[in-house]
Amino acid sequence: MNTSVEISGIRLKNPVMNASGTFSLADYEEYIDIERLGAVVAKSVTLNSRQGNPPPRIVETACGAINSVGIQNDGAENFIAEKLPPMRRFKVPLIASIAGLTVEEYGLVTRILEKGEGISAYEVNISCPNMEAGGKAFGMFEEDTYRVTRAVKDASTRPVIVKLSPNVTDIVKIAKAAVDGGADVLTIANTYLALAVDIDTGRPVLGNVLGGLSGPAIKPITLRLVYEVRQVMDIPIIASGGIATYQDALEYLMVGANAVQVGLMNFNKPDIMIDIIEDIEEFLDKKGIGDINEFIGSLKI
Ligand SMILES: Cc1cc2nc3c(=O)[nH]c(=O)nc-3n(C[C@H](O)[C@H](O)[C@H](O)COP(=O)(O)O)c2cc1C
Repeated sequence: MNTSVEISGIRLKNPVMNASGTFSLADYEEYIDIERLGAVVAKSVTLNSRQGNPPPRIVETACGAINSVGIQNDGAENFIAEKLPPMRRFKVPLIASIAGLTVEEYGLVTRILEKGEGISAYEVNISCPNMEAGGKAFGMFEEDTYRVTRAVKDASTRPVIVKLSPNVTDIVKIAKAAVDGGADVLTIANTYLALAVDIDTGRPVLGNVLGGLSGPAIKPITLRLVYEVRQVMDIPIIASGGIATYQDALEYLMVGANAVQVGLMNFNKPDIMIDIIEDIEEFLDKKGIGDINEFIGSLKI
């Protein structure tokens, strides 16, 4: 049976990878065989190191969690020098994640990552606050999405995956802006802006007030976003939102995603991605489907 998929020239042995910021190789390598994964996505890096948002930074909600980690990281140069070399021990495509607080910063981070060996592609996290325009996420606006994508693409020799924000009125318009800016692949989508309140203290639960909702609660909404984009665009899509089971992953693939990312649920069960990979194989086998690419986009309307 063939479970491999190709995304912008990168061959993945299966379509399952982690979502950025929810999985570190150092923590997980004792629980799972990393080389079983289709790819590994690193946590987002910015130009300079960042402390992230004030605590508390994560709160559980019904069927999910709201987080406001705030791109805590040690900066792009540190990523190349310290984080990347141990990641390259594994024979699995490695996707680096680029973040920034200005359009220019995205280009600068890309230039630094270009020096790193063994990176297969960049995923661009456009859900960061634009510090030159009032702190709303770049990914909320077509123009900013275009400019950030272009800044990365112009500096990159590697495929560029743009990870869209779901906090938009019309995802198709934003997807088109990313493609106009040079995106080779889209990841759909990041977390949903959300709020949790503590009725005893009368204050927001999170130190940052607002955070991003992830987990099974968001899966049907992100599934709809993938569907909307796939209806009008041919570009490879990686789905990210609420995957907890192989059925969730298969729903995304059926709607037309070429690969999927598992995020929050890695915290519940560290080997959940292996379960999902094995269960997908078993499902395809039972259905007599010899190639996963026949299943992708097979939704009948
Ligand atoms: C604790 C936490 C940290 C995250 N950090 C990042 C990050 O650094 N960069 C990024 O692009 N997305 C980040 N995300 C978003 C996830 O990659 C993913 O897109 C989102 O959580 C939806 O998938 P899920 O419902 O499977 O978690 C983070 C999510 C969580 C829960």
